[in-house]
Amino acid sequence: MFIDSFKVESQNVKYTENEIHSMYDYQTTELVHESKNGAFQWTVKPKTVKYEFKTDTHLPKLGVMLVGWGGNNGSTLTAGVIANREGISWATKEKVQQANYFGSLTQASSIRVGSFNGEEIYAPFKSLLPMVNPEEIVFGGWDISDMNLADAMGRAKVLDIDLQKQLRPFMEDLVPLPGIFDPDFIAANQGSRANHVIKGTKKQQLEQVIKDIREFKEKSKVEKVVVLWTANTERYSDVVVGLNDTTENLMSSLEKDEAEISPSTLYAIACVLENVPFINGSPQNTFVPGLIELAIERNCLIGGDDFKSGQTKMKSVLVDFLVGAGIKPTSIVSYNHLGNNDGMNLSAPQTFRSKEISKSNVVDDMVASNGILYEPGEHPDHVVVIKYVPYVGDSKRAMDEYTSEIFMGGTNTIVMHNTCEDSLLAAPIILDLVLLAELTTRIQFKSENEGKFHSFHPVATLLSYLSKAPLVPPGTPVVNALSKQRAMLENVLRACVGLAPENNMILEYK
Ligand SMILES: NC(=O)c1ccc[n+]([C@@H]2O[C@H](COP(=O)([O-])OP(=O)(O)OC[C@H]3O[C@@H](n4cnc5c(N)ncnc54)[C@H](O)[C@@H]3O)[C@@H](O)[C@H]2O)c1
Repeated sequence: MFIDSFKVESQNVKYTENEIHSMYDYQTTELVHESKNGAFQWTVKPKTVKYEFKTDTHLPKLGVMLVGWGGNNGSTLTAGVIANREGISWATKEKVQQANYFGSLTQASSIRVGSFNGEEIYAPFKSLLPMVNPEEIVFGGWDISDMNLADAMGRAKVLDIDLQKQLRPFMEDLVPLPGIFDPDFIAANQGSRANHVIKGTKKQQLEQVIKDIREFKEKSKVEKVVVLWTANTERYSDVVVGLNDTTENLMSSLEKDEAEISPSTLYAIACVLENVPFINGSPQNTFVPGLIELAIERNCLIGGDDFKSGQTKMKSVLVDFLVGAGIKPTSIVSYNHLGNNDGMNLSAPQTFRSKEISKSNVVDDMVASNGILYEPGEHPDHVVVIKYVPYVGDSKRAMDEYTSEIFMGGTNTIVMHNTCEDSLLAAPIILDLVLLAELTTRIQFKSENEGKFHSFHPVATLLSYLSKAPLVPPGTPVVNALSKQRAMLENVLRACVGLAPENNMILEYK
């Protein structure tokens, strides 16, 4: 059964006019090991740590600024939210289609809240904690192409034409601000698009982005802004001692107008300096060490990298299932072809390399979790190929072959063909990223060992579910398995309202 909303009643949770305060017993373990006769003996000690959470329930008027607003993702997301807000429906050859948020974790998924009369009861994910309504978001942003959003939607060729016709009047007046363009960082084939750029030195470009954020805030009367990079994939920046390895070096490189500071890093520095959360939806290393240090110093949320939308999402489910089932993947080969502007940009070796890196480590944690299947250091063969095929447009094809060793030397081969509809998969993920980034900035917590409430670590691991190569704070394990990432997010939000984590024991039925 499905219910629309619920309220938790417990001594562990208190609601005030603008806050939810919850106490939460976190069950965890402590591991110790000692050497006995040359071998390690491990002991696992269960322990409970008390946590307190405070969630500010005031919903701010939210502004979202997209870098690459006029691209396929930016125009599709903006169009989709407007279509929902205006209650637009349109004719396809099959039926009359209503606008929806399918593919969004926050808007279209559910959570289990318990059982009643022998039935499982589910509620919307978004009913867990107060979240901004997407239809109240004010969108804005930058693009190196000056096309308005209605024409950009047409250029993208993602949405049905009847829908586009209805959306045009709402989108014609939305025009991106000029963007920071550096031809050295994206493919040469993007040059013809760049007719709308911020001039000047890197420092002047950064100052312009800061000015843009302030003006957008003022004009649209929003209380909070989140910035998200959905512009073209850049090549990796060199990480060099003295250039960008520390905040001090990064800022002095900026003063010297060093060529190796990428546009995405410039936008991110601007955001951190303005204390505006910044999320990177592409694979490049925007977050060079000096920038991560700056975000930590200023306690400004940063998250990324690269939206986890299609092939990698399947990989982080399938390999988790195989390794969890005691089956040993030995070879994973992934081919993609796509024909949108992202595909054209990725046809250059340097930008493809960024994508290859971000897709490469996605099975590491699952492989490392099973020492029965894999020797230390052993890893399945893992190859990723991406080709640009204009005809398929935004309808990306991802083909994967998973070969695994099974019982008694047998071989199991799974072949998958995934038609991804790239931007229709990415747009709801962008929405989730900005909504969850905003929500997490309203949560404060402390453990029984800490005196003061504090926010989550500025490197936002809670967003991992939505990222292909999750950025984590130094010394934190990277979790790629999709089910674990979702459980982490859901369970932390449950803790904020005093609900136990979903442990799937369902003892009430046993
Ligand atoms: N499923 C997906 O669509 C998916 C999944 C993961 C990652 N991504 C990443 O998302 C990004 C966007 O994808 P897309 O399909 O919308 O691409 P797109 O090429 O359609 O859009 C990118 C936009 O960014 C603009 N741009 C480029 N550099 C800029 C800059 N420095 N400042 C401002 N604007 C700039 C371009 O003019 C373009 O309009 C790509 O990097 C892609 O790899 C997409």
